[in-house]
Amino acid sequence: MPELITVEQAERLDTTELHELYARYISKSQVSLIGTFGFGRDLVDSAEGCWIRLQDGRRVLDFTGGIGVLNHGHNHPRILKARQRFQEHKRLEVHKNFLSPYAAALAHNLAALLPGDLNIGYFPSSGSEAVEGAVKMAYKYHEGRRGTVLHADTSFHGKLLGAGSLTGSPELHFHYPKIPGTDSFAFGDIESLRLALSRHETAATGSDVYAVIVEPYSASSLRASPEYFLREARRLCDERDIVLIFDEVYTGWGKTGSLFYFMRYPGLVPDILTTSKSFGGGKSSISGYVAREPVFRKAYDNLSDATLHSTTYFGFGEEAATALEAVAITVEDDYPARATAIGEQLERGLRAIAAKHPKLVDRVEGVGALHGVFLSAGSTALDAVLKRLPSSFARDPQVRSKIVTAAVVGALYRDHDILSFYGSNREIALIVSPSLVTGEEEVERFLSALDDVLGKGLTALVAGLVREKVMS
Ligand SMILES: Cc1ncc(COP(=O)(O)O)c(C=O)c1O
Repeated sequence: MPELITVEQAERLDTTELHELYARYISKSQVSLIGTFGFGRDLVDSAEGCWIRLQDGRRVLDFTGGIGVLNHGHNHPRILKARQRFQEHKRLEVHKNFLSPYAAALAHNLAALLPGDLNIGYFPSSGSEAVEGAVKMAYKYHEGRRGTVLHADTSFHGKLLGAGSLTGSPELHFHYPKIPGTDSFAFGDIESLRLALSRHETAATGSDVYAVIVEPYSASSLRASPEYFLREARRLCDERDIVLIFDEVYTGWGKTGSLFYFMRYPGLVPDILTTSKSFGGGKSSISGYVAREPVFRKAYDNLSDATLHSTTYFGFGEEAATALEAVAITVEDDYPARATAIGEQLERGLRAIAAKHPKLVDRVEGVGALHGVFLSAGSTALDAVLKRLPSSFARDPQVRSKIVTAAVVGALYRDHDILSFYGSNREIALIVSPSLVTGEEEVERFLSALDDVLGKGLTALVAGLVREKVMS
């Protein structure tokens, strides 16, 4: 029998052993990448709320919000209890021969919370799968008679082949084959959308476009689609019988101050909404796409088409039970109001910091508990660093802002035990995206740490990063 590592042994691996296993069996580059920015040497013991406890006893304030996953914080007690209950009763996980009471209840609850006739829910495992499920439904709605899907030039819809075909981000810099018939419009620009639609007019069906996919708020670029754009896109799609998809995989469940970003605009309803991340309460790998009833009925509501889209794990058991609890907490604890309060505190604090460090901070953008600080990258202090980096990094056109932002992320961690990250699309920003269980005191702690870090000046910050790199 081969010698296998047990769960208990895995939990006892030290940093060197972990790096060796990663380098050998997962990716050497992932180990060096995480090391480049000063992370990867610490091991985590546990995590609760917005705090992470390291094995060396340090407590780290997690200000990443788990990149959208952790609205409820780490290991929310109600989420843990729902999962323990499911396990203690030995509930059924995956089975195709029974219907799932959890999926049924979850779909009901989504329909109750969402506006209009967004009533039909599907529950795959990741955001990309939800996006692809939505696009497939739109294609089927037109029975394959239309061949074009439009997306924004600045967007993030995931990294699977289909979702990646609709993503406009330098992060996906290697070009894989695309799904057929994609075209783009400038983010939030209604004239550009009109133009894109006019490129695909046909004599036979009026339009060859079967779907338009939009992020009402783009978390990767921290930009809002203007209300006028969203409402006019709705009207243009209605006129042409095009399925309008809103991708709120990141921004759902209160993060921006409304349950979903688009819900701040009364009467605005997409044909399909995608969600994931905090839908799973920080524990469950579940996503969803919710369709308006007429779209679903025309696309799939008959015996032969009923199973055209599914995956093996499809929100049947524990994942769906967890999502039920996650949604209940979001509503009962009024997460949109929490995000609004956090947002107001962040907005005030970050604007004050920007005013105090005008040479370092270009601008601050954001909404609710999702903000970004765009740092200046013009300094000559960076030239020395660039020379020391591997050539693959130095070739990256965004390398300067990545270094500055990584230096701030590194100093926040090293000097203040605060975890943050940088987000990348066409621009790089320090992402300030706390969980919605983060208190006023913790937000204040972050703000004063950021003020302190920026107060050191760019040269010192970047020198710190170089020291770390040289030592690692
Ligand atoms: C708006 C949006 N759509 C889709 C995705 C893809 O989700 P996943 O990474 O779960 O495939 C993401 C992931 O960050 C996202 O932010």
